[in-house]
This record gives sequence, C-alpha cells and structure tokens, in this order.
Amino acid sequence: MNILILGSGGRECAFAWKLAQSNKVNKLFIAPGNAGTHNIGTNISINPNDFEAVKKVVLKQEIQMVIVGPEDPLVNGIHDFFLADNALKSIPVIGPQKHAAQLEGSKEFAKEFMYRHNIPTAKYESFTSKSLEKGFQFLETLDAPYVLKADGLAAGKGVLILNDLQEAKHELKEMLTNKKFGEASSKVVIEEFLDGIEMSTFVLTDSENYVVLPNAKDYKRIGEGDKGLNTGGMGAISPVPFADKEFLTKVEERIIKPTIAGFKKDNIPYVGFVFIGLIKVNNEPLVIEYNVRMGDPETEVVIPRIKSDLADLFIATAEKRLDKFNLEIDERSATTVMLVSGGYPEAYEKGKEISGLDQVKGSIVFQAGTDLKDDKIVTSGGRVLAVTSYGNNFKEALNQSYQNIKSIKFDKMNFRKDIGFDL
Ligand code: AMP
Ligand code: GLY
Repeated sequence: MNILILGSGGRECAFAWKLAQSNKVNKLFIAPGNAGTHNIGTNISINPNDFEAVKKVVLKQEIQMVIVGPEDPLVNGIHDFFLADNALKSIPVIGPQKHAAQLEGSKEFAKEFMYRHNIPTAKYESFTSKSLEKGFQFLETLDAPYVLKADGLAAGKGVLILNDLQEAKHELKEMLTNKKFGEASSKVVIEEFLDGIEMSTFVLTDSENYVVLPNAKDYKRIGEGDKGLNTGGMGAISPVPFADKEFLTKVEERIIKPTIAGFKKDNIPYVGFVFIGLIKVNNEPLVIEYNVRMGDPETEVVIPRIKSDLADLFIATAEKRLDKFNLEIDERSATTVMLVSGGYPEAYEKGKEISGLDQVKGSIVFQAGTDLKDDKIVTSGGRVLAVTSYGNNFKEALNQSYQNIKSIKFDKMNFRKDIGFDL
C-alpha cells in the first residue's frame, strides 16, 4: 500500500524507517519530512495543517493510509475532514478525531474525562478571568509548589510550577487577564502538585481494542540534572527500569482500561495513539497528561523495540482487529540522545552543515530538524538528530549512543551527557 506520514521530526523519521522495512508498503511519502526521511521515502513540501493540500497529495499519489505525527492537525480536525469528504472517507487515518484530540487540546477536557471515569490524577479546579478571585482562594487551600496550566495548546510552555503563593497569584492573573499564553490561557487549570518520578506509556487503539506499546521515559529539560528550560525532549529510554510488572499491571487496570472504556462510554471515536504521561507516587500511578499522538523523542526508542511489522499493526488498527494482533517486542533496551542546536530552546542559528553521519556504526540516527542544501545535510531546527542504540540494559545502549556521537559534528552542537542519570 501507499502510505503518507504527516510531520517533519524525529518521530516521523522513526515511523518512516520502520514502515520502509515492511513488504506491505509500496510507496512511502512524508509531508513535509526532513533530510532523513528524504533517504527513506519521498518528501512532499506541504503543511500538514493545509487539509486541501493534503487531499491533493492523497488523491494524486493514491495514498491508502495516513499516519498523523504531530497533534495540531488532529486538534484542527484532519480526521474529521477525511470522514466528511466522499473522495477521502474510505482512507484510514491513524490519529483521533477532533473530539478526542481535546484530550491534548484542552487540559480541562482531559481532567473532566479522568474524573468522570475514576482515573487517578491530581485534584484540580479550573478558572477564567471572571473567577479570578475564586482562583486565588483555591490557591490558598493548596500547599506549595503551585501548578498552573493554560487550558489550551501552548507549544509545551503553558505549565508553570511556582514555589511562592504570591507569585502563583500574580501568574494566574497574568495568564487569565493579560493572556500570557494568548487564547490558550483564557482558562487555567490549577492542580495539586504531585511529587514522584515520571514516565510515559503508549497505547494504540482501534476504538474497540488496544495494544500496549513499549513504555519510555524522556528528559525534557535542556540542562544536566534536569535543570533549565523545558524542551521538546533531550533523550529517552525504553523500557523504564522502575516500571516493574506489578506497577505496569496497576497502570493497565487503573488507567489504560478505564481510558479506552471511557472513550466508548462517552461516544468518543478513537483510532490512534494514546500517550499517557504518568507519575509514580508511593508506587501508585497517576495521570499527569494525555497526548493524542506519539511522543518525540520517545518514538525513537519505542518504534525500534517493536519487532512486529508496523504496516501490519496499522492495518489491524484500521480494520479493528487489534485484539488478534500479537505485538512482538524486542527485549533489549533502547536509548536515544538528542543533538540540538546551540541556544535551543531559545534562539538558535540554522543552516549549519552536519558531518560524520557516515561514520556512525551500531546506532540509528533519526533526523529531526534537518534539511538538504546543495546535497549537504544542514540543521534546520532546534532538535536536530536523535542517536538511538540498543543494549542489554539502558547503560550499555547509552554508551553506544555517546560513542557514536563523538563522530557527529555541527557548529554549536549541544546535547545532554547525563540521560538516565536518575535511574
Ligand atoms: P503537562 O503539560 O500537563 O504534561 O505538564 C508539563 C510538566 O509539568 C509535566 O511533565 C510534569 O513534569 C509537570 N507537572 C504537570 N502537572 C504536575 C503536577 N500536578 N504535579 C507535579 N508536576 C506536574
Ligand atoms: N517528549 C514529549 C512529547 O512528545 O510531548
């Protein structure tokens, strides 16, 4: 079959790498893709949020399945657009419809869903500019630190964790009345702070059945020791060593099953990935957030650990046969280390030539923010390359990635040397 992947990051590069290994795949297209996906399939330079442009490509290239990488086309309703179009409605889209995408697009929607289905999560209340005073009063009932979340999508920047009550009140006002995060903060969710260790679990559902994919832990802060600004993710490890069998059983029984059952009870059709951000507090799992897509860079460790054919897995998803799908997982650990542009996540320069990729041995390099310029691979984003390796344990896998990183170079390249430091 001909498959179109929407997106341009390391996640989409990992999907393409794995799909290219399937004999079910005839032609593979990535829109817009990057210099790495250019070597695997055919890049098409369109914006995934321009649905009419996506439609043209799908019809012209006789696409038979669409895999949606990032959240914004989902939140903007790409799946609904396909279902409403006679020429597109029979083409499966892996990624949920707009209704379900609110699980990521609105923190309040996600919290209400969890409360309705008794899924463990931090207690919360939500406020608008009209209820600012009530927000102040709610903050006074909580202990520090205070967690304030812009309700809408805010490019990963909408969550503030503050130690001081006065500062929390000030920021709440900034968010609600001065629109600190634009429309995204016209509503704010205030949560109880949970003290624990985070990890993520990934589920693929066909809206009736589900398979649990390998779990992972990512490292979001730019600095070593988890210091400094939040990024999209600086590295990841799979499986998570502290998630033992007993803990994972709790996750499946108390979180995954009620989530999938909740979609059905609420009449929310859901075909696609569910990314559940978890926190382990006193050996109990609670949900921090839902995303309606795979994580990046988590995909760069999760996908390499799937031994089954990925096209088969997606076909089974589209045909609602996931209950009969035997997902084979590689027992080895996989780790990835992100090489980023100097300055990221703040301002950084682009267009730096990347060298040494041909010297990498025994690791897989998934490209993210890269582009081709006169046949040379250059940087084009903050997160540039994900260097993934396997090992008998995560330390062995990490050593392999760090060894190979020595041969990769670009001006002002930066990366964290302590991925997995807390495990
Ligand atoms: P979110 O966008 O909801 O995942 O929040 C971003 C990050 O803020 C999470 O990955 C956590 O590190 C942190 N965080 C969010 N909610 C809480 C909470 N209730 N308690 C502690 N940390 C939190
Ligand atoms: N790595 C976190 C995310 O994809 O949201």
